[in-house]
Amino acid sequence: MVTGGARGIGAAIAYRLGLEGCRVAVIDIDEEAARYRIENFERNGIEAMYVRADVSVEEEVAKAMDAIYRRYSSINVLVNNAGIGFSGRELEEQSYDEWRRVIDVNLTGVWICSKHAVRYMKASGGAIVNIASTRAVQSEPNTEPYTASKGGIVALTHALAVSLAKYRIRVVAVSPGWIDTSEWQIPPRESSLSPLDHQWHLAGRVGRPEDIAAIVAFLASDEAAWITGVNIVVDGGVTSKMVYMDENTIFTSLEILLQDREIVELIKTVVEKSKRGETSIKDRIRGIIDSN
Ligand SMILES: NC(=O)c1ccc[n+]([C@@H]2O[C@H](COP(=O)([O-])OP(=O)(O)OC[C@H]3O[C@@H](n4cnc5c(N)ncnc54)[C@H](O)[C@@H]3O)[C@@H](O)[C@H]2O)c1
Repeated sequence: MVTGGARGIGAAIAYRLGLEGCRVAVIDIDEEAARYRIENFERNGIEAMYVRADVSVEEEVAKAMDAIYRRYSSINVLVNNAGIGFSGRELEEQSYDEWRRVIDVNLTGVWICSKHAVRYMKASGGAIVNIASTRAVQSEPNTEPYTASKGGIVALTHALAVSLAKYRIRVVAVSPGWIDTSEWQIPPRESSLSPLDHQWHLAGRVGRPEDIAAIVAFLASDEAAWITGVNIVVDGGVTSKMVYMDENTIFTSLEILLQDREIVELIKTVVEKSKRGETSIKDRIRGIIDSN
């Protein structure tokens, strides 16, 4: 079962699990996207079903899992992937309702789905994989609800792992970094990433939904039998990177942005001259603009 499996990372996870031989169930609120996705899976030889449920509504989730169990007769893997973002408003502008909605879907949804999946999973054991985020440990300004929900998922993961070990159910969190989901939207979108976005990553590129699907497939399999209770960061190396804002960082960024080493060398010369008081950067730039 993959929540939020109609689009984005969830769709890539559901597809990969299907290719690995799983019978797939997608739980999502976007009916149109989900039906398109299921048709696509079936065309690729994957047995798949869709059940509409909002992960934050307990009765809907209970009914959905009942329907999935009735069709498949066993449930072994739950991927708690459904999630929503946040508008990024200043703290003082954030409303209680917005906070509640993000926490309800992203965090309470994981608790609700896990609680109801266990009823069916405890007979045979299995794995729950929770999709958190590197934002559990890093923040941009004005992201409080989203960040808190993802930090909560990491904590909930070890709590569930300890409680469910007696049923041989492993529980693991995966924290993706920046994932470009454009190809897994409906319809697929053009990626709008810049070379700078890619080169910021130690891995040399922004992540793809397939990167997350690969680790989830492994964690859901018996090969990961000794992994439970932990949070695995899959972010192309970004959270391991110490960042200092020095001249080198700025010039490297400029080179990536302009894709022209010669221009960057010229700018470096002007900066050096400006530091020695031989010229003023402002005057030089004004000169260039005036001459055009
Ligand atoms: N894209 C990233 O860079 C990134 C990075 C870190 C973590 N994540 C996490 O990965 C997960 C998937 O993100 P994405 O970028 O693929 O998002 P997305 O918006 O492309 O897809 C999310 C899917 O979840 C479904 N959904 C939303 N609310 C739901 C609800 N209440 N009940 C059931 N389904 C619901 C949507 O209909 C959609 O199909 C989220 O939990 C997100 O927080 C994403």
